[in-house]
Amino acid sequence: MENIDRLKCSLSLATERLLNQQVGMEGRSSAHYLAMASWCDTQGYKHAAAFLYHHAEEERKHLLKLFHYINDAGGHAIHPEITEIQHTFKAFRQVFELALVHEVKVTQSIHHLVDHCFAVKDFSTFNFLQWFVAEQIEEEILARRAVELFDVIGEEGIGCYTIDKALGALKDSA
Ligand SMILES: [Fe+2]
Ligand SMILES: [Fe+2]
Repeated sequence: MENIDRLKCSLSLATERLLNQQVGMEGRSSAHYLAMASWCDTQGYKHAAAFLYHHAEEERKHLLKLFHYINDAGGHAIHPEITEIQHTFKAFRQVFELALVHEVKVTQSIHHLVDHCFAVKDFSTFNFLQWFVAEQIEEEILARRAVELFDVIGEEGIGCYTIDKALGALKDSA
């Protein structure tokens, strides 16, 4: 008789481990965005703060999407330890540059996961992950646009005030 315990789970151990790593990444994303939102809030960038608070919630939803998938497949979703979050930033611009760097890392992680699922022929998880592939395209577009606003508007004079308002409009259009 095959290992009945393992048949209760449709995921291989390696796939389950990688999915849990992605849970960790989404949890870190949510915490990062929340810290960024809080700093912007303290600096008077209220629209940027609203944008980032909203984004922190989106990342939490991504975490839960993975969480439920792992457990529905018979695995065990693990909540990540989240430490070493950056709470203060050198400048308004740095917040959004770091967000872009982070989103690119998340995309690479998703692609690594998709690549693994294809290689081990786990087409169910491969299919599930297509939502994340599409989502990352949108997230990178949004993060790049946010950084572009600093270049297009400039930070001199009332620049940061104008960028803050533009970030509010960007959130509403997303
Ligand atoms: Fe995410
Ligand atoms: Fe994201």
